[in-house]
Parts: sequence; structure tokens; C-alpha cells
Amino acid sequence: MHTIDWVDGAVELIDQTALPGRLTVLRLDTVEDLVAAIQRLAVRGAPALGVAGALGVALAAYRAGDVAADVRRLETARPTAVNLARGVRRAAAKLPQGADAVLAEALAVRDEEIAASAAMATLGADLLAELCGQRPRLLTHCNTGALAAVVGGTALGAILELHRRDALGGVLASETRPLLQGARLTAWELGRAGVPYRVAVDGAGPFLMARGEVDGVVLGADRICANGDVVNKIGTYAHALGARRAGIPFVVVAPESTVDPETASGAQVEIEDRGAAEVLSYGHSAGEDGPADAVNPAFDVTPYELVTAIVTERRVIRLDRGERV
Ligand code: MRU
Repeated sequence: MHTIDWVDGAVELIDQTALPGRLTVLRLDTVEDLVAAIQRLAVRGAPALGVAGALGVALAAYRAGDVAADVRRLETARPTAVNLARGVRRAAAKLPQGADAVLAEALAVRDEEIAASAAMATLGADLLAELCGQRPRLLTHCNTGALAAVVGGTALGAILELHRRDALGGVLASETRPLLQGARLTAWELGRAGVPYRVAVDGAGPFLMARGEVDGVVLGADRICANGDVVNKIGTYAHALGARRAGIPFVVVAPESTVDPETASGAQVEIEDRGAAEVLSYGHSAGEDGPADAVNPAFDVTPYELVTAIVTERRVIRLDRGERV
């Protein structure tokens, strides 16, 4: 099953806000509905967002309303993952050739992500086996599986490949506050794949590394900058610091579509702020007895110096050996 696809003239996607409780497929045939789905994280994860953006342009092209405004809305629906704007621009470049050409380009974006996921699983598993020893115990953060792509995934794809090789020692899924992509989505995917795992609160990661219970950290990215800085889900930076302190590898698995040579470093990336409600809605009552306000950066920047290696579908970049993006 594809997380997102074009089915009979509309975009169909798994509603990730309903997981793990319910597996629901949404059918969206307007740009407004797709933008809303992107913004409430019904579809999320950098590769899936690229596909969503590209398919959204196909919706706009067939509907032929204010296509330029639709393209702008899609492009800016979320600011941090480079895949979204990139997928939108790729499909929009075909607008002069008509809606069918736009759809063909959007489906090419989808197919490239599917192929990239397969290649990253192999390359990522090979590298993790080399860097982290036999049957490594791996910590991952957020969700980087099929739900974040189309099928397969990035970092979780590599973990699943190690499992298929019977070469995985264990998985810690960092819960990923505030929306729990790790505890809800990564756990759901690992469970369906029959991979034993444990969920840990985000703050436990660096301590478990210090206690010698983790052999490597592997996670994805929303944008990889020209200097190698990695922009990813909030909490990533803390895991990178923990990994460096513990002397274990910190590996990023992401497709070339997430590599952004036009952005010099993480300092130039707009970090989505998702507002106080997501942070305060778990066990707090805003403005009454609980805290009145919150800050909610959805992503952080891990400086390239803390990254051991980046794996894409085409290459392994050993930042620890001075190789550069
Ligand atoms: O806010 P989200 O859930 O879209 O954030 C997703 C992440 O940060 C993922 O780690 C990243 O997109 C890599 S997905 C393969």
C-alpha cells in the first residue's frame, strides 16, 4: 500500500493523525483540502511531502482555477522540508505543457522516491553494519518509514533491512514530542513488520547512549544544507550531542531530494513554529493552573560536525572523514 498516491483523478493518502488507532484513507480532490492535510500532518515526512506537493499541482492543473495561487499555497504549506517546495516547483514547471504533463511529472517524483527508498535501505543497512558492529542496537527519532515516504522510507527502511538480514540487535523509538511520530507511527510500522522495539521518551536517548545501551543513532532529515548541517525533527540535535558524548555513530539517511545545495547552512533555514497548543494540550491546561504559553519549534539544526555520515540513494558521505555534501 502506498502512503500517498494518485487514484482516479484525486490524491489518496493515509491519515497519519488517526494512527495507530485507525487506518483511514483520505481522498482529496481540491488543493484546499490537500493543503489542510499537509498542515495538520495527515501527510508528513519530507519525501511524502514532496510527492504531496507535486500531486497537488496536478490537482490544480486539472481544476484550472487560479493555478498560480494554488501553486503558491502548496509551496508554502510548510516551510522547513525542502522536498515540498521542490516537488511543487518540479510539477509546476510542466504547467505550460498541460495537466497530463504535470501529472506525469508528479508521478515521476513519486516513482523516484520509491526507488530512492529501496536504494537507501541497502546502502544504509550496509553502513550501519559497518559502523555500529554486529547486531547493533539502534535509536531512531520521529518517523522515517513508509509513512514518511511512499513505501519503504529512509532511516527506518535501513533498520527494516537490517531486520530482514537478521542483523539487528534492537530498536529504540524516540517518542518525538509533541505529536509523537515515534511513539505512534514508528512503533506502528515496526509492529506491523514484526520488529521488536521499545519506545523511549525523547530525553532518555542521550542517557541511554551514555549508559552503553545504544550502538548507533539513525534518523532522517527535512533538509540537508550545503555545509552538511542537518535540519530534522526537534530532538535530533540532543540525540546528536548524546551520540558524540557516547562516541557512537550518528547517521542520517535521506534522499537526494532532501539535499539543498542552495542553502549554505542551517542558520538560513526557516524552522516551522507550530504554536503553543500542541505543546500544552498534553496534560496541561493553558492559562489556568498550567503554563500560559509555550514555544514549539518543529525542527532543529544538527551541525555537520556532529554527523558521522549521510546516506542517500546514490552515495555515502562520510562527514567524519572530511567528505562534504
Ligand atoms: O513534522 P514532520 O512529522 O513532517 O517531520 C518529519 C521529520 O522530521 C522526519 O524525520 C523527516 O521528514 C525525515 S522523513 C524520511
